[in-house]
Amino acid sequence: MSKLPFIIIIALLLETIFFSLVTCPLQLYTYEVLADERPYYIGNRKCRLCHFEYFKEWEKDPHANAFVRLGKMKGNPYCLKCHTTGYREPQGFVSEKITPELRGVQCEACHGPGSKHKDNPYDKEALPVGRKIDYQRVCIKCHDRNWTPEFDYDKYLKRIEHRIKPKKGKGAIVR
Ligand code: HEC
Ligand code: HEC
Ligand code: HEC
Ligand code: HEC
Repeated sequence: MSKLPFIIIIALLLETIFFSLVTCPLQLYTYEVLADERPYYIGNRKCRLCHFEYFKEWEKDPHANAFVRLGKMKGNPYCLKCHTTGYREPQGFVSEKITPELRGVQCEACHGPGSKHKDNPYDKEALPVGRKIDYQRVCIKCHDRNWTPEFDYDKYLKRIEHRIKPKKGKGAIVR
């Protein structure tokens, strides 16, 4: 009879111990995993797998040559900021030796890091920057008054516009 309160206390104690030893660390672990899931840069070659036609177009875009144009300044950090993809960002461009696949102004320089989108193309949350944002703000990070005093968004956009119309269909598609 008098044992009942005792049992309840033990049960509460056990629950507290279980929570602090198991549930709590588990939750913290989950938060850490989620924090690691920020998208990172994967490079043009990966985008090419599914957006082949647009990739072909981009190869003729001046942005494709932005790195080559640096000539002897290919190691100059000041120049790299605008002539490569994701410089100084997580898994972005580091140097010609370490990250040759991120030379020049690639897809991800305008659309954002695409690792999540590559794994989940139809997940709207995982998409890199799509159509719906104000791209002008992306452009002027590099097209500033120093380098492009006469920058005019509409005119400039026309010159790099993705002309290929998207195809709706199965699996790997789009431009
Ligand atoms: C703030 C971004 C930014 C930085 C930093 C930058 N560039 Fe550029 N660069 C541009 C842009 C934007 C263009 C395209 C300009 C245009 O034609 O509208 C360009 C064009 C060029 C060109 C093509 C020729 C021309 O003048 O149009 C060369 C060469 C060049 N940059 C070299 C360099 C070198 C070398 C450095 C480092 C000393 C550098 N850039 C730093 C943004 C930058
Ligand atoms: C210089 C910036 C820039 C680069 C580099 C760039 N894009 Fe874009 N992209 C844009 C802009 C701006 C739009 C939206 C404007 C429009 O309607 O064309 C867009 C739109 C798109 C769309 C959506 C088109 C649609 O009809 O819904 C796709 C897909 C796309 N880009 C893929 C790519 C791929 C793949 C690459 C690399 C091979 C690339 N982009 C490189 C600026 C860029
Ligand atoms: C595994 C195939 C695949 C890869 C790899 C891939 N994409 Fe896509 N991408 C798609 C598909 C499919 C869609 C259309 C999704 C939809 O209609 O919901 C799409 C749509 C887009 C859009 C349009 C977004 C919008 O809001 O309209 C952009 C921009 C884009 N991709 C850029 C990229 C970039 C940049 C890369 C490389 C980092 C890349 N994609 C790699 C399959 C892929
Ligand atoms: C990461 C930096 C970066 C971003 C973002 C960027 N550009 Fe550029 N852009 C450059 C550089 C660097 C060049 C010079 C390439 C060269 O001539 O070698 C350039 C060249 C160009 C040119 C050719 C100019 C010429 O004189 O021939 C056009 C057009 C252009 N960009 C439009 C855009 C538009 C539109 C956007 C936004 C949707 C954009 N760019 C975003 C860096 C960037």
